[in-house]
Amino acid sequence: MPDLKKRIIMNLKTTYCFDDVLLVPSFSEISSRREIDLTSSLGQDLVLSLPIISSPMDTVTEVAMSKAMSSSGCLGVLHRYNTIGEQSKMVQEASAAGSVAAAIGVTGDYLDRARALVRAGVNALCVDIAHGHHSMMRHALKVLRNTFGTDIHIMAGNVATLEAFNDLSDWGADSVRVGIGGGSICSTRIQTGHGVPTLQSVMDCSVSDRPAKLVADGGIRNSGDIVKALGAGADFVMVGSLLSGTQETPTEEIVINGEKYKSYRGMASLDAQIEWRGHTSSVEGVSSTVPCKGPVSNIISSLETGIRSGLSYTGAKNLVEFHSRAKFIVQTSSGAVESSTHINKLK
Ligand code: XMP
Repeated sequence: MPDLKKRIIMNLKTTYCFDDVLLVPSFSEISSRREIDLTSSLGQDLVLSLPIISSPMDTVTEVAMSKAMSSSGCLGVLHRYNTIGEQSKMVQEASAAGSVAAAIGVTGDYLDRARALVRAGVNALCVDIAHGHHSMMRHALKVLRNTFGTDIHIMAGNVATLEAFNDLSDWGADSVRVGIGGGSICSTRIQTGHGVPTLQSVMDCSVSDRPAKLVADGGIRNSGDIVKALGAGADFVMVGSLLSGTQETPTEEIVINGEKYKSYRGMASLDAQIEWRGHTSSVEGVSSTVPCKGPVSNIISSLETGIRSGLSYTGAKNLVEFHSRAKFIVQTSSGAVESSTHINKLK
């Protein structure tokens, strides 16, 4: 009999983060970045011209962010840390500007919430739990599908593995959020020892033969990371920290030493749990303050420029071509140093 512990160690797989890899530039015939079509579809009525989705977090997405995201061709997911009435009102207010998505859970009044959101005109529901590969997710997706048929887009997550991605797709999810523990405000890996680097999860899930769309979520810091996530097979990226601190986030400006900041926090952080539940269970997130960044349209527009440039380096005119042409290499740690700006600064 082989020693069981030894067998587990021998099966360890090397996994890659965004900074471990690069995309290799390839022959291009693209004369202008404007030629590149970044359209990505969540379904017939839900086509985004830029594949960026804002996180359902109470320091990121309420009405102003949802409206700004849809005005930029993206999508916002309204968070669920409020009453059913408050969230439904947000859906109504945001849907003047375009498509709206809203988050729900898998316990308690989630079905009443889903019904109210659908009545209010939501275009997509996002079943938003930390460990999505769960029997409670299976049950909720079944109930939601029985209730709404195929009329409503259902996003679900988060998951980290191909098996989980396939299961959520089979259970009825139209899109799946992929990434556990990689978010800028996450402490899941520290608290629980569990997780998979987000880029690795995206690569693993991208070979799925199921119809669900892949939303890469957590740890995306710049347009380069977005390009890598899309190149690895994501149809969309979900971002929190990149949008944090913008005018449209639902948080107050704080002035510290004359500089303006806003708060950004994990939904499993101590602060968020105390505020929304009145007590804490496992704390798996942190709170932070980030510098104010001005209107979110400026951030989105600079991300869009980087993504367009990224596809042009591969010579891909759209995301379908990009998925088939993107070529990754692994870089060494000294390669990663060379890849970041490394000019000596004057003291
Ligand atoms: P970024 O890196 O864009 O990540 O700031 C945003 C994503 O992080 C997830 N999220 C959490 N994960 N503990 C976690 O482990 C938390 O408290 C938490 N809050 C948010 C979520 O997937 C979000 O989109």
